Amino acid sequence: MRKTFLTLLAVSLSAYPQAPPTARIKIDIDRTIGEVDSHLFGNFAEHLGRMIYGGIYEEGSPLSDKDGYRSDVMEAVKQLGVSLLRYPGGNFSSGYDWKDGIGPKDQRPVRMDLAWGSLETNRFGTDEFLRYCERIGAEPYICINGGLGTVDDARHWVEYTNFDQHTYWVDQRRKNGRDAPYKVKYWGLGNEIDGPWQMGQKSAEDYVKFANEAAKAMRWVDSSIKLVGSGSSNFGADWANWNRTVINGLRGQIDYIALHTYIGNPDNDLEKFLGQSSLNVEKYIQTTAGQIAERARPTDTRPIYIAYDEWNVWYRAQNDQHLEEKYNFEDALAMGMFFNAFFRHADVVKMANLAQMVNVIAPIMTNKQGLFLQPTYFPIAEYGRQRGNLALTSWVSSPTYVLNRQTLPYLDVSTTYNSRDRVICLNVLNRSMSQDIGTRIENQEGKLSSSADVWQMNYPDLKATHTFGDDKKVVPKTSTVAASAGRDGFTYTFPAHSLTILRLHME
Ligand code: AHR
Repeated sequence: MRKTFLTLLAVSLSAYPQAPPTARIKIDIDRTIGEVDSHLFGNFAEHLGRMIYGGIYEEGSPLSDKDGYRSDVMEAVKQLGVSLLRYPGGNFSSGYDWKDGIGPKDQRPVRMDLAWGSLETNRFGTDEFLRYCERIGAEPYICINGGLGTVDDARHWVEYTNFDQHTYWVDQRRKNGRDAPYKVKYWGLGNEIDGPWQMGQKSAEDYVKFANEAAKAMRWVDSSIKLVGSGSSNFGADWANWNRTVINGLRGQIDYIALHTYIGNPDNDLEKFLGQSSLNVEKYIQTTAGQIAERARPTDTRPIYIAYDEWNVWYRAQNDQHLEEKYNFEDALAMGMFFNAFFRHADVVKMANLAQMVNVIAPIMTNKQGLFLQPTYFPIAEYGRQRGNLALTSWVSSPTYVLNRQTLPYLDVSTTYNSRDRVICLNVLNRSMSQDIGTRIENQEGKLSSSADVWQMNYPDLKATHTFGDDKKVVPKTSTVAASAGRDGFTYTFPAHSLTILRLHME
């Protein structure tokens, strides 16, 4: 009964092009938080299901090039704007021996993968991955085996990829067709090592001992590399203590601490889904940022930042071994929730990797004949255009709702500024199921020109999905609206359950 009333209300409110303003947003280009790092638009390619084989790599397919890379997928990946690619896992990395994945393909061993209960042919390995990164224009980010692996495995991997004199491993690389070092800058010191689901799970203290030794040896091979410590991903347990121990134990060694978050809407409640997830992400970032700051000194030569190196919606395909999640319109809204949080903390969140890129909880889905783009693809690509901008503090006053005794604004906002083009991007997620929210947008510094560009995702059916041959439904719409150069700003109505990016031009 209540649902019917809300639905009717939603329809009637949506009929008004302009709702009377009940919200205000103040923009001030002087209030900067930090640069939106290009590495916030990273992605993740794990040996899991059809992410690699049948995803980015399919030997013998008419859609693949001579090296076995799927050309159609490569084009979609380039359009997504992937800046950094994490590999080879994930849980997979904790049982992986990178030496199995180099040399002549027909001589590579087939191994059991205990992380995902499958067989690994090793036909795609380090060289195939690094050449792929070069082709798509992304920086590689390799996660070492911090579970069952050794310090020697880790330092030899750096030697294979980055060293340039005549050593056993460098000569192996040359024999495998690559003379110049790949210069891999980003290395993860293991994945989710606190999780009982991880091969080689460790206590925080044992992990710190291992990671310190691995970091020392890897840096003695190449002092220019940047290292990511494994943060907690076992949020039910004592996650904050794990992070504190790792941050303090590896201070001076690591450049980043990793956070992972997967969200879901099992209760079929949009406002709860977008609200609770946002509260959690804020809590993880703020707590970890506080722990980083706790013992930081101005003289530290190696400041620590947050690498949100796994994030996404993932709850329907939990028991599907291939993790082929079908994303709908409300999941596309959640992409905005994540990016808004990362942008609001742009001073400390300096890396983020969507998990994952193709087929496995991914925005791009393939079959043998082609691919389709899930609704989540579009916000990821669009937010990516804000890399390099300055994130700004936005003052927001909006109608609110209550979730678990916490009051949340319906409008979830982030703002960035491109000083070269003099463009302000106002990113607004309206998480209300039923209210279109008329908003007064006031600019504090400089004048806005009289029109603004609008990019928006909104769709009547929250559960609408795409499939092969039908992926043009839940897509963004663009338009231009009147803005105002005057001091009083202008009013814009953010429709119920929508994600909007307003591009405001400064005169
Ligand atoms: O992305 C899927 C899995 O989720 C990763 O392998 C693991 O790190 C996380 O638990």
